[in-house]
Amino acid sequence: MANKIESLRGMDDILPGEVEKWQWLEEKARIFFESSRFKEIRTPILEYTELFSRSVGEGSDIVRKEMFSFKDRGDRDITMRPEMTASVARSVIEKGLLSQAKSLRLYYIGPMFRAERPQAGRKRQFHQIGIEIINESGILPDLDALVYLYQFLRDGLGVRGLELRINDLGTLEDQKNTAVKLKEYFAKSKDALCEDCRDRMEKNVLRVFDCKNPKCQPVIEKAPWEEIAPKNQYFTDIQKGLRDRDIPFVLKPRLVRGLDYYNGLVFEISATGLGAQDALAGGGRYDRLYSDLGGKPTPCIGFSIGMERLLTVLEASHENLGNLVSEKRVYFIPSETNDSVVKEAAMDLRRWGMIAIVGDKALNKVEHFKKAEKLGAQYAVTQSGDSWILRDLARREDKPLINKDNEKKDNEKISLALFLNLKGIWV
Ligand code: HAM
Repeated sequence: MANKIESLRGMDDILPGEVEKWQWLEEKARIFFESSRFKEIRTPILEYTELFSRSVGEGSDIVRKEMFSFKDRGDRDITMRPEMTASVARSVIEKGLLSQAKSLRLYYIGPMFRAERPQAGRKRQFHQIGIEIINESGILPDLDALVYLYQFLRDGLGVRGLELRINDLGTLEDQKNTAVKLKEYFAKSKDALCEDCRDRMEKNVLRVFDCKNPKCQPVIEKAPWEEIAPKNQYFTDIQKGLRDRDIPFVLKPRLVRGLDYYNGLVFEISATGLGAQDALAGGGRYDRLYSDLGGKPTPCIGFSIGMERLLTVLEASHENLGNLVSEKRVYFIPSETNDSVVKEAAMDLRRWGMIAIVGDKALNKVEHFKKAEKLGAQYAVTQSGDSWILRDLARREDKPLINKDNEKKDNEKISLALFLNLKGIWV
């Protein structure tokens, strides 16, 4: 018998039974970010290696040792994208997207590749949901990014135990001064640092803070970061903005992030139950990247969420994610008379994180129910005379949602009744 061929280490199949959870999560992300006026972008998985060495940075662990890079048949250096911020920047510059709009708000969902040592929460092919707010400066886009991240995880998905950690890497000018001062400090203890760190000192001294080698920790811990760290009103304003918006956070003065393109605000968010690899998402401001890649200076901020880690957290916090996935899918049966009410109620449900499908008016009732089941909906909503009926498709049970006694049949009432009903709060 011929040898069996196995998948590559750290690259998983997503099989039927699991894939529904991914589809559900992708749909949640699409609905959340699209209703927040983000537009989707898809870029190729393969890019020229130079894109990442010039953006993520020669000194970063990602570029130094984690990229899947190879020569193609034309002897060109190619890399499988380890992240998408650089690819989005390449695309926006190349396609001139900023000539048609003053600023852009984009989101993406897709696989990334890093040749890290596989372990729980760390894969070689992993997936991210990310957003980029392009060509917007000041604290408002930064606050928007943090609020969207927090709301998507906490309210959209019900993730518990979130911890948002923030830091300020300073202005582009601050960064030059910080680098000089840090270099001076580390130069004094050069012999106590590992070879990698000595190299990092030359390429991007901030990367020394990423070192996991125990040998380097005493030197890193004693770094006079408090004295050197930039102190900007911008960061104080962000903290106030977060307090005003009821988003809890902790200050993490040594949070530098593993990619070289950042300045200003950087952040990570963790959730309970992730173990050693506890960063669920990370991001920050990057005002230099577009000019480094041959575009005009373009202030940006963004973040990416690791989908594998997010699903781990969701599995831990929702008893049966499988049920949750299908329970929230609602199919509306429209008619000539209720068309606009149904459309608006479906929009409301989507805003509240459910999946709402509006059927095609050309179908008859039996066809609608068949279609609803085929699409994996658990409930169908239909109007019968003056009443609105919620049908549990699996149990084939009907329940009146709103009837004659509740004389007002506006869409808000229908969607609210539905929402409460599906949450098991209202009967
Ligand atoms: P990052 O911190 O490198 O940032 O990755 C973001 C998230 O992707 C991490 O918090 C983690 O959840 C997930 N992740 C990273 N590596 C792995 C891995 N090997 N296995 C599983 N999950 C992983 C970025 O990628 C930036 N592009 C974020 C950004 C967007 N900054 C500005 N805009």
